Amino acid sequence: MSKNELCWCGSGKKYKRCHMEFDEKIDAMDFDEFLQQEPPPHRVINNERDIEGIRKAAVINNGALDLMDELVKPGIDTLTLNDAAHEFIVEHGGHPSCLHYEGFPKSICISVNEVVCHGIPSRDTILREGDIVNVDITTDLHGYFADASRMYIVGGKTSPEAEKLVRVTRECMMLGIEAAQPWKFVGDIGAVCAKHAHKNGFSVVTALGGHGVGKKFHLEPFVSHESHANTGMLLVPGMTITVEPMINQGGKKVTVDPIDHWTVRTADKKLSAQWEHTILITENGNEVISK
Ligand code: MF3
Ligand code: CO
Ligand code: CO
Repeated sequence: MSKNELCWCGSGKKYKRCHMEFDEKIDAMDFDEFLQQEPPPHRVINNERDIEGIRKAAVINNGALDLMDELVKPGIDTLTLNDAAHEFIVEHGGHPSCLHYEGFPKSICISVNEVVCHGIPSRDTILREGDIVNVDITTDLHGYFADASRMYIVGGKTSPEAEKLVRVTRECMMLGIEAAQPWKFVGDIGAVCAKHAHKNGFSVVTALGGHGVGKKFHLEPFVSHESHANTGMLLVPGMTITVEPMINQGGKKVTVDPIDHWTVRTADKKLSAQWEHTILITENGNEVISK
């Protein structure tokens, strides 16, 4: 593209005043094929207007999760939580992105104990004291998406092992976020997540992972939570991705429910935990959008 054309990012600025230097920097890089290093495609890079849009979706999404903070209690069923989140999101002008996404039947995912992710809210799933529960909510607003999840210990008390799993999984997410730096590679995230999980005697789910998010629900890159530093897609300012480690007490193997085709469980029926944030890669580091 020539210097005086409008930039490909949609900012409305001339290329020379926008992403020209950025493109030159990427063009000058040597991507190691063996390490599967690759530059990001333009579609995963957000301009200022896109970032504002994602932030606004995140405000609603965070509000829905804050509501879950209040509602998760022993005795509540997960369909009631689903309906409350749905109503909150819709009342605030947003749309619960999970609803009918690739046929998913409810508005949010609620995953209890051995359920790793994609648990379908149900009147029959009643939370009990000591359960560990992930509530994963995605909101889209005017075409922009924000995705985040939190863990809850129902009733506040559980076994020391379950408590450790929930804590270590959050630490994995925070370490992964710290590793997500501009001009570094996406593989750096999974390298630190997995190191911390393994050190604590846990395994990392690799069948599913994080993803680019923002102008779509799921975009490149795939964010593995067990990977090697310096591998995969280059992270650059303007990218928005999720970091969402799923960490297991036992083995990493998972199964998908043969009847509902959604519920992912640990193959050994041991506990699993997950936390998720949407983050923005900035010039100097990153920013957690979903808080
Ligand atoms: N929110 C999940 C994620 O973190 C995706 C759920 S897809 C659904 O990527 F269809 F199960 F809702
Ligand atoms: Co999610
Ligand atoms: Co996600």
